[in-house]
Amino acid sequence: MTSTPPPAVTAAVQRALDRHAQRPGALLPVLHAIHDELGHIPADGVPLIAAALKLSRAEVHGVVSYYPHFRGEPPGRHTVQVCRAEACQACGAEALLAHAERVLGCARHHTRADGAVTLEPVYCLGLCASSPAMRIDERLHARLTPERLEQLLAAALEVKP
Ligand code: FES
Repeated sequence: MTSTPPPAVTAAVQRALDRHAQRPGALLPVLHAIHDELGHIPADGVPLIAAALKLSRAEVHGVVSYYPHFRGEPPGRHTVQVCRAEACQACGAEALLAHAERVLGCARHHTRADGAVTLEPVYCLGLCASSPAMRIDERLHARLTPERLEQLLAAALEVKP
């Protein structure tokens, strides 16, 4: 049993469907449009999407959960993305991500309890020649060290190490 979506969810889903439902392979464009607008794919929007595209709820849910890009929960007030793709891995990205978890007090793929920040591993930010890299909200940062990561987080998020 699912709850009735809030009006903002219904409206966002309807806008996405109005724009993309007639396209072949409409599901992904619809999901991207909703994600861009709301920052996540609300669970109570899934039945609306499924009904409009004549898919089962399980099919829609399967696509949402398959792609790490799609969040199922609203993000924190800030989003920190640490690249884990090949070039960054070769330059210490895993240790950097673990350091970010400690500094932020937040596990990867999660939002901190106070809602301040969501920490996400990502796969290439286009800064491979300047690895390791991360993004804090819309700003990209390269050639990171653990010390620089702490400074950037403290400055951008007012998060104390
Ligand atoms: S591999 Fe990290 S930015 Fe490309």
